[in-house]
Amino acid sequence: MAQIFLTGATGFVGRHLLPALVQAKHSVRCLARTTANAESLQNCSVYIGDLLQPQLWESAVMGADMVIHLASAHRGTPELLQRTNAEGTTRLIAIAERAGIKKFLYLSTLTASPKPRWPYAYSTWLAEQAIQQSFLDYTILRCSVIIGRGDPFLDGIIKTAQHWPVVPIIGSGQTRFQLLDVRDVVRCLLQIVQEKRFSRKVLSIGGPQALSYEEIVNSVLAVLHLRKRKIHLPRPLARWLVRRLERLGVRTPFAPGHFLSRDHCAESLSAIEAHFGFIPTAFHDTLKNLY
Ligand SMILES: NC(=O)c1ccc[n+]([C@@H]2O[C@H](COP(=O)([O-])OP(=O)(O)OC[C@H]3O[C@@H](n4cnc5c(N)ncnc54)[C@H](OP(=O)(O)O)[C@@H]3O)[C@@H](O)[C@H]2O)c1
Repeated sequence: MAQIFLTGATGFVGRHLLPALVQAKHSVRCLARTTANAESLQNCSVYIGDLLQPQLWESAVMGADMVIHLASAHRGTPELLQRTNAEGTTRLIAIAERAGIKKFLYLSTLTASPKPRWPYAYSTWLAEQAIQQSFLDYTILRCSVIIGRGDPFLDGIIKTAQHWPVVPIIGSGQTRFQLLDVRDVVRCLLQIVQEKRFSRKVLSIGGPQALSYEEIVNSVLAVLHLRKRKIHLPRPLARWLVRRLERLGVRTPFAPGHFLSRDHCAESLSAIEAHFGFIPTAFHDTLKNLY
């Protein structure tokens, strides 16, 4: 069984992945930014530190067989995204190379793009480039929006549906998503950890259906037995409003995924079946499992 250095263990995907790694009898060393966050991490060793302060956790990478890199920033200034996602990953790669890590697994996004006008997409693309140009044996798993217990995307739609008098649809509502159940992502990650055939591959995966944002909202309303009026908000106005509120310290139910204008789909609806040999959970089943 492998010795794994895991970043981002306290995040949404990390909270689902860590117990699965432990159950599969892997020995896990987690990076957490604060001791308060680290309290939720069970059956693993914890190293407290920031991705950008490698002196605090470098020793944890030494002696590990594998790195699973989930730590990232989704919101914030372009500088923060660049520092955390691109620079943070580059520092981790340098240490992983020095430590002779056998496998480096990076969970990326289908939105990764070489265009600097999309700072998050650009920062993850830079991270991917650094990994591919390194001496490491890597696997990059590019995912569509991931949903499940604790995810900010579906949770945001559910909260507005439950508590707001009208349900906002950002933009035309026609952007399509191949929503992916976090349990399926964990299954894919475990296969990558355990099998050699994913070596030096970049794989793009999504769920089994491509649904428009408005179809997703309609399904949520149906499952919750709610009848609410929907209003379309122009994307720039909604983004401006959310940014202003967040700057004033007001938390909104909106995650960056709600503002996407490009489709968020893999090349094929059967990518998981083709690469990992199982049929991923349909959106309605994930939704019913949650509510
Ligand atoms: N969720 C999705 O829909 C989705 C879709 C495609 C790809 N991905 C990718 O999957 C990965 C995991 O996503 P997620 O949804 O689990 O993200 P998340 O919930 O936002 O968690 C991010 C994690 O990164 C940690 N982190 C952030 N900045 C850090 C820093 N400077 N130093 C150390 N740790 C830091 C956070 O620590 P704190 O707990 O201290 O904040 C947290 O553990 C990311 O690479 C993301 O791009 C996610």
